[in-house]
Amino acid sequence: MEPIPLNPPAYVRNPKLLQWVKETAELCRPDSIYWCDGSQEEYDRLCGEMVQSGTFIKLSEEKRPNSYLCRSDPSDVARVEDRTFICSRRREDAGPTNNWVAPKEMKATLNKLFDGCMRGRTMYVIPFSMGPLGSHISHIGVEITDSPYVVTNMRIMTRMGSAVMELLGEDAEFVPCLHSVGAPLEPGQQDVPWPCNDTKYIVHFPEERSIVSYGSGYGGNALLGKKCFALRIASSMARDEGWLAEHMLILGVESPEGEKDYVAAAFPSACGKTNFAMMIPPAAMEGWKITTIGDDIAWIKPGKDGRLYAINPEYGFFGVAPGTSVKSNPNAMATLYANCIFTNVALTPDGDVWWEDMTKEAPPSLIDWQGKSWTPDCGRPAAHPNARFTSPASQCPSIDAGWENPDGVPISAFIFGGRRGDTIPLVYQSANWYYGVYLAATMGSEKTAAAAGKIGDVRRDPYAMLPFCGYHMGDYFNHWLQIGRTLSEPPRIFGVNWFRKDENGKFLWPGFGDNMRVLKWIIGRVHGRSAAVESPLGWMPKYESLDWRGLEEFTYDQFVKLMSVDREAWKQELFSHEELLEKLYDKLPKEFAHIRELMLSTLWMSPEHWALAPE
Ligand code: OXD
Ligand code: MN
Repeated sequence: MEPIPLNPPAYVRNPKLLQWVKETAELCRPDSIYWCDGSQEEYDRLCGEMVQSGTFIKLSEEKRPNSYLCRSDPSDVARVEDRTFICSRRREDAGPTNNWVAPKEMKATLNKLFDGCMRGRTMYVIPFSMGPLGSHISHIGVEITDSPYVVTNMRIMTRMGSAVMELLGEDAEFVPCLHSVGAPLEPGQQDVPWPCNDTKYIVHFPEERSIVSYGSGYGGNALLGKKCFALRIASSMARDEGWLAEHMLILGVESPEGEKDYVAAAFPSACGKTNFAMMIPPAAMEGWKITTIGDDIAWIKPGKDGRLYAINPEYGFFGVAPGTSVKSNPNAMATLYANCIFTNVALTPDGDVWWEDMTKEAPPSLIDWQGKSWTPDCGRPAAHPNARFTSPASQCPSIDAGWENPDGVPISAFIFGGRRGDTIPLVYQSANWYYGVYLAATMGSEKTAAAAGKIGDVRRDPYAMLPFCGYHMGDYFNHWLQIGRTLSEPPRIFGVNWFRKDENGKFLWPGFGDNMRVLKWIIGRVHGRSAAVESPLGWMPKYESLDWRGLEEFTYDQFVKLMSVDREAWKQELFSHEELLEKLYDKLPKEFAHIRELMLSTLWMSPEHWALAPE
């Protein structure tokens, strides 16, 4: 067979990269190889080609300048956790919460699938940096893909192109990320708008620090810098090197006096993470300001001063569209004004996008995410529940001035939350780092659309990392405990739940901007200002220690409902932790059993002792 000409630009000088591209081309047999330079011209050209091929629809230049709509195949709409593998050399290093296949066996399977898989297509080489170029916290990856949709999304989601290749030089390290949609074209065969394959593999080799993904073109399955690199591979790098790669947003809180803090928060998918990261405080809380560093992933390293410093490794937002509105997240809506890619949302007659709850009233007619005509009474959602926007972070009105600071920002507090209709109070502070690690390790959430499974069931999702931890979860908990032992100024740890419901199934907490009230109490705790009482779960605010300005109608009784710790419910909650913890038994920190026992015994603390009643 004729070798496929590599034709690398002169700035590609890394022999390891050149060799990998050559071998990959020989295996995948694309028609041609294209080296992405990351320029606007390249982006526009690829988008234009996808409009021609029917993959993209250009949105109205007036309504949504330089933006596109893409509809995926209905079978390829979310991450595929059951097809995601951590192929460490030893099974016990992947742990019982990850799928595992021996690397040799997996490579044999993948080699067969990749043999000729790019026939009839272009193979794109995408150099990208996770984190600001040149930051000591950043890392470089190179994705090879046969999907121009991936190239254009990667340009929004990462710092991508020739500048990264320059940085790679001759001998810098990079994580090779190989991706194919798995849909070779026979000569003359007409392509489809969203090529993919029913066979899917999302595979990580943690010791080699490499990623291979086959069969899906969607989100985290295909944009390999995100979940695959920045979480699964990076978490295993972080364990080896003494840092943290976390499924966390990062936000800045500025007080009226100009005091600035940063917090990092973990919530499972679709719990309003993006809303929280871009929150606008209630007008009545004059002078409080929230700024955004990131909405999904944090890379966190200990600084010389005994504090933790975080960067957002991403460059854009890949947010869940349905539910995003001017009411729920005005900053996100403003971010989406132009230069975005929308996937699986609905199209309006005037060439704009729409999704459920974007406006109070649905438009009278739309084209839905599957390209079918839609009316409000047709009984189908207009956008897929996991429809996404890809938008540049720099367009966000609340973006923090230091979001590209290569040294990161110091973290004052960690917040962990889930979507829980009962049991879990609005906010509580762990007694110390160890209890905080237990809190985060046992957090649970009701299932949503971003992952497969029955919606509504509670699943334990430690640190919101269950689908994203690249090694044994028990080792991960130990790593967190160890990091805490080394810090002289560890962030304080808090649990929150915005989703508790009353006996009629109505949310008790208004949420959105009012979460600022909780955040203000948290920041006050960090600085030793906010009052708190002891409770079985740690420290809790009393009614009068939250700022109620502008929400005076929220009564003491409502607050008590929101904050109550029901002994029976918590007994069940603590017992149900067993299900996950016993699975991880071989590597579970010994501290956990003691903490659980202590929590159980404190449930018999007299409620009067930590009564929430005003003094
Ligand atoms: C995401 C997720 O896509 O967590 O961010 O599922
Ligand atoms: Mn996420």
